[in-house]
Amino acid sequence: MASTVPTGAPRREGPDSLYSERLRSLSLLVGNTPLLAIDVVFGGESRTVYAKLESMNMTGSVKDRMALHILQSAAREGVLQPGGLIVEATSGNTGISFAALGRALGHPVAIFMPAWMSAERINLIRSFGADVRLVSHEEGGFLGSIRLAESHAALTPGAFLPHQFSNAANVQAHAQSTGPEIWWQLAPLGLAPDAFVAGVGTGGTIMGVGRYLRENDRSIALFPVEPANSPTLSTGHKVGRHRIQGISDEFIPSIVDLSWLDAPIAIDDGDAIVMAQQLARQLGIAVGISSGANFLAALVAQERLGRDAVVATVFPDSNKKYLSTDLMRDEPERPDFVSRQVQLQGFRVVARVCDLCAHAEQPVNSRRASRSSASEGPPGR
Ligand SMILES: Cc1ncc(COP(=O)(O)O)c(C=O)c1O
Repeated sequence: MASTVPTGAPRREGPDSLYSERLRSLSLLVGNTPLLAIDVVFGGESRTVYAKLESMNMTGSVKDRMALHILQSAAREGVLQPGGLIVEATSGNTGISFAALGRALGHPVAIFMPAWMSAERINLIRSFGADVRLVSHEEGGFLGSIRLAESHAALTPGAFLPHQFSNAANVQAHAQSTGPEIWWQLAPLGLAPDAFVAGVGTGGTIMGVGRYLRENDRSIALFPVEPANSPTLSTGHKVGRHRIQGISDEFIPSIVDLSWLDAPIAIDDGDAIVMAQQLARQLGIAVGISSGANFLAALVAQERLGRDAVVATVFPDSNKKYLSTDLMRDEPERPDFVSRQVQLQGFRVVARVCDLCAHAEQPVNSRRASRSSASEGPPGR
């Protein structure tokens, strides 16, 4: 079993309360990330784009928010029993989150994932003691991983399947943390978002953040991002191959309601790679490929809404899981790449919103303020 997660609070007696206490204290390592205000010259105009630095989460990606919230909800509902096997199909970051959080809580973890994911992802999941089952193209790739995970769980008494693609708690995680954080980090700057942009893997990020933001202002635009080389959202099925790991996994997840979102913005995977490389090389911001895609899509959204539009997005993870991928190689640039029009100027860090930490006993949603009271700051501060 993993070592005990230290907590500041006095411990109550009994194995159940110890488990609950561990679940609660892990919240201190998840969410409440800084927001970056990145200044660029785009097409000759000065602009700013806001991005949540999700690599600051416990295992280094946005997926920790979803994984911890799903485990907390399942434990509360009694679906997840202490010591029970956690089985999930994932293209990588989710596996790392469940493997680490599962071990911190004393669960064995089995992960089914497509065989072509980066070596860093596979090795990291294994390093957290999880069983990794790689699923080939012939076995059905991503959809095959889901099928195999389900049959494995069915054969294991007490197994828990988080079902990230269909679990409402995935959306809820972002509606209760990422969305309010963005709102309250912009508020002290006298700003409110006009649009939120995010690549769709499970869709939890865009649906959850979108839910919170639109509860405050129904006019906020929500742009999902997809790879131009494999536009699953626009076509409804698997279309080609792409290199933006973590998004566009061959189908449209059931938690995604495209009719509620604005039209997808398509970004070429090579363009996303070049943009991610520039963010690291020129500004020292270490990001993965989907962050490059989100950043470019945020600029495209701003182009549509007007140069002063406040557009927020997420940088889902850092560059460290891509050391063996094309992110570390010279990418041939094409004349139509959006990144060619981008000149990065610098960035400022917007402080974390401590009052909205995921560890708050009371759900952040219940303390939400309206757009009109946004300038007053988070309740309880
Ligand atoms: C690197 C990366 N970017 C983006 C996403 C998409 O996030 P979501 O599943 O919330 O749509 C993921 C999800 O796994 C990811 O790993």
